Amino acid sequence: MTPVPVRRPPLPILATIDWPEGVVTPEPKTAAALAAAAERLATGQLVAIPTETVYGLAANAMDPDAVAQIFQAKGRPATNPLIVHVSDTDMARSLSSQWPDIAERAARAFWPGPLTLVVPKAQSVPDIVTANGHTVALRCPGLTVSRRLIELAKCPIAAPSANRSEAVSPTTAHHVLEGLGHRVGMILDGGPCEHGLESTVLDCTVDPPTILRPGPISAQQLAEALGVQILSSKEDRVEQGRERGEALRSPGSQPRHYAPRTRLTLARDATMLIPKLLEAGHRVGWLSRSPHTAAVVALAASPNLIVTPMPQDPAAYARSLYATLHALDQRGLDRLVVDAVPADDDWAAIHDRLERAAT
Ligand code: TXA
Ligand code: MG
Repeated sequence: MTPVPVRRPPLPILATIDWPEGVVTPEPKTAAALAAAAERLATGQLVAIPTETVYGLAANAMDPDAVAQIFQAKGRPATNPLIVHVSDTDMARSLSSQWPDIAERAARAFWPGPLTLVVPKAQSVPDIVTANGHTVALRCPGLTVSRRLIELAKCPIAAPSANRSEAVSPTTAHHVLEGLGHRVGMILDGGPCEHGLESTVLDCTVDPPTILRPGPISAQQLAEALGVQILSSKEDRVEQGRERGEALRSPGSQPRHYAPRTRLTLARDATMLIPKLLEAGHRVGWLSRSPHTAAVVALAASPNLIVTPMPQDPAAYARSLYATLHALDQRGLDRLVVDAVPADDDWAAIHDRLERAAT
């Protein structure tokens, strides 16, 4: 008997692109992949694209039907607005009804790069992009291919991280494939992301400017470059909101976000917690910042424990965090334990993501 063919959804096209900084014309293979991706974007389809922070799920920001597909593919609530990616500051200005001086100065200092600016939105920006809000989040990505794609598609690109809503953001093309699979028709593979954490989101519509999501550009870097006070800590934001009598306004900053499927605990002293988990019969993955101490080496002999050494340097830690969580999440472990990270400004974005992952 011939087996009944099972109709399964097609797999996405996975196209490798390589455009090293400083190179003027890319190799023909990269040029062809970018042209195909731009054609898809211009005709209302989704493409997953690399950026210097995390991979994004891109659509033409000016096409409400295309943007609706992003929300559908991610399972993202319609109340959570998207970041619009632009190829330069002129395009950013054209999408805002008023371009604040602070946005101009921030763009000069940090664009192209991992900084998103929230400004008053132009009428031309579809409401679905901004979740019916009066502001729009804009970012000019640091990766050459991301900007080139926007130029080729001739439209600004709405792109949230290319993962299902609430899951860990992708830092490689294979993470996108695992998480979204057939929900996207094409994935551009530009290799692992340089920063590995989502951009800093700065609200330029309030005074003082306020960080809604910490990221690769720190509060201190912003304050130094802009010469103004920047509100950054969660306490600052809550306090300021209370003074203005408002609710916190970054919908994506709900506590639970960026979480692996495996239950994750942040531990001040994991050498106390892990023996208890092992005794209770759990299989445990441990992201350790001091893997060579005697206590850790002794525990690592347990057959039910995987110790993953994490970098001491915050930039390197950020680069590998999501990839480590993706990898350990595949192992069918019962628990993940992560050594707490320092409380200073350099670690703020990592601290923020770990806290959410642990909620
Ligand atoms: O690095 C990044 O920012 C990546 C890459 C792909 O560019 N994108 C990204 O997008 O992380 P997403 O959608 O995962 O996160 C966007 C964040 C959310 O927290 C959202 O609530 C916030 O930005 N956001 C977007 N528009 C906003 C607005 N008008 N006002 C306040 N927050 C906004
Ligand atoms: Mg996201």
